[in-house]
Amino acid sequence: MSEVFHSFGKMLYGGDYNPEQWLDHPEILEQDIALMKEAHINVVSLGIFSWSALEPEEGRYDFSWMEERINTLYENGISVFLATPSGSRPRWMAEKYPEVLRVDARGQRARYGERHNHCYTSPVYRQKVRQMNMELAKRFGSHPGVIAWHISNEYGGECHCPLCQAEFRSWLKKKYGTIENLNRSWYTAFWGHAYQDFDQVEGPSPLGDSSVHALNLDWKRFVTDRTVDFMKHEIQALRDAGSDKPATTNMMYYYDGLNYHKFADAVDFVSWDNYPVWHKGPETETAMDTGMYHDIMRSIQKKPFYLMESCPAATNWQSVSKVKRPGLLEAASLQAVAHGSDSVQYFQIRQSRGSSEKFHGAVIDHYGGNDTRVFGEVRQTGADLEKLRDLAGSSVRAQAALIYDWENRWAMEDAAGPRNQNLFYKETVEKSYYAFRKAGLNVDVIDMEQSLEDYQVLAVPMVYMFRVGFEEKLRSFVERGGTLFMTYWSGIVDDTDLCFLGGSPHGLMDVLGLRHEELDALYDGETNRAVPVADNPLGLTRSYSCEHFCDLVKVTDAKPLFVYGDDFYAGQPALTCHSWGRGQAYYICADMEQSFYDDVYGKVLEQQKIRPILPGVKLPEGVEVTSRESDTTVYIFLQNFGREEVQLELPEELEPVLGGDKKRLPSFGTLVLERKVK
Ligand code: GLA
Ligand code: ZN
Repeated sequence: MSEVFHSFGKMLYGGDYNPEQWLDHPEILEQDIALMKEAHINVVSLGIFSWSALEPEEGRYDFSWMEERINTLYENGISVFLATPSGSRPRWMAEKYPEVLRVDARGQRARYGERHNHCYTSPVYRQKVRQMNMELAKRFGSHPGVIAWHISNEYGGECHCPLCQAEFRSWLKKKYGTIENLNRSWYTAFWGHAYQDFDQVEGPSPLGDSSVHALNLDWKRFVTDRTVDFMKHEIQALRDAGSDKPATTNMMYYYDGLNYHKFADAVDFVSWDNYPVWHKGPETETAMDTGMYHDIMRSIQKKPFYLMESCPAATNWQSVSKVKRPGLLEAASLQAVAHGSDSVQYFQIRQSRGSSEKFHGAVIDHYGGNDTRVFGEVRQTGADLEKLRDLAGSSVRAQAALIYDWENRWAMEDAAGPRNQNLFYKETVEKSYYAFRKAGLNVDVIDMEQSLEDYQVLAVPMVYMFRVGFEEKLRSFVERGGTLFMTYWSGIVDDTDLCFLGGSPHGLMDVLGLRHEELDALYDGETNRAVPVADNPLGLTRSYSCEHFCDLVKVTDAKPLFVYGDDFYAGQPALTCHSWGRGQAYYICADMEQSFYDDVYGKVLEQQKIRPILPGVKLPEGVEVTSRESDTTVYIFLQNFGREEVQLELPEELEPVLGGDKKRLPSFGTLVLERKVK
């Protein structure tokens, strides 16, 4: 990582720009600059798919068009995130060196085509990428207009070629040392699948082994490590050619194939591409869901992140590509900033004329003017970001955290049982997230490897797999006074998916004061109820419905606060609480409805005196509150994702930075307020 990076000192605004599609239209390139300036755009991502334009034949480079563009952009106050073009290799390379092409799990090698489909191991591809990246860095790595490196594009997928298989075996040798150790950890005695030698191991395949769960899990870990290794190789080439500009790579929404936390130390800042399906359900729900993903991205480094792509209009790839209603673009863009982004960027600046993305929304559409509805909103959002300039580099401080862990997701979804049709992992995590946010808190969404030290309250939903040492972290969290919410189906297996013996949640039965005994899975549409125990200390009096899972626990010394209402386990605990050390450990036995989480968390947070962002302020439904802080100032964002205007009653001392009216917030309106702390 380059040591120096903290922030660019202003909010960045712009998007992916593909001038190589327009080189024979100089008038269009000129118009692009004028329109970008009018929209307050100050950064573009350049060169993402430009390899064949930069090296049309092997060894013959043509960087002149790019140089001309970077210079012109710079002269006009527009900086560049310069991409390494590995996301899409030129045709000549695939023809001459077929090993750069990816092989699928059935052993079939791909032909040239599409993008994001190279082998991460191929020495030829690595060499070609190194050469290209070094050329780019030598030529542009110190250009004042180039402010950062955009490494490749949306890394993803996997390669099963012989070179990657050999790498997988070395990775396993390093991890397990001996084949006996691997056999034990993978439980290969089952169905008599023991290996005699590492050379026999192959990645999972529908033609071979696909149900050795620990093999599947290690393969996914390996794919992440391979990808990070490839990315580091790309960055190293830039460094070796003398560029120390910060580097990032753009990540994707809930992309299952890579554990993004493993990228944390290898990039200088985290960035991601956000394409919510707006207007399908209530915008308030889509906003919560998107907010959680912004928080996942911010929590990877616990630093400002960058919104690298989003769509200014309608996408072309969602099953129904709706346009954004007036005001939504501005609200969605500012939401990223509210959650800790230092940029808003779009795909794309100018809409392509042909091929598969010709109908994908853009800042400048095929008509090409500045008098479109979308352009007007883009310009407005750019003006907003100029007003929020001082927020650049400010951080989000959260008292509440929530565990969302990729490896846990991999293990749980592959586990076979107790419900193979849907576990609702993401939805369950979201229920805790929504409850914290409705209680007016910032939330970090972290994985099991991250520290718990900054938090007072922690939700641990469906953490089926405990990665090494996780139970110890939870124990000390509660011991030192933390409030823990754990749900059913937690602490069941270790990190090679071997079931813990001697009871679960592993290592925490004394902390929780109970033991999980059976997990009843419910058919779709089947429900049970949680009924409050009379005079429960939370003072809750209504019943709530639950579905999908009902954990049947044996309580040792936890207090039941709710019990099941129906079935043969009516009367058995549905929510328990146990005091341990200086803290409290709650266990939520079933997949409860959202309002249960809202009410239970709300009461507990109140009793624990966890201060919300705006203490004493009752916010109307659908209004999101978040905050960022610098050394001198706390910035508070209020955003109304509802369809109706709402009334607000806010403390006098908060001064508006964006949006003047402190008494009313229109639909899709944003109000940013500040309070000086020094
Ligand atoms: C991704 C890619 C872009 C573009 C957009 C379209 O995010 O990175 O190149 O294809 O999707 O939404
Ligand atoms: Zn390969």
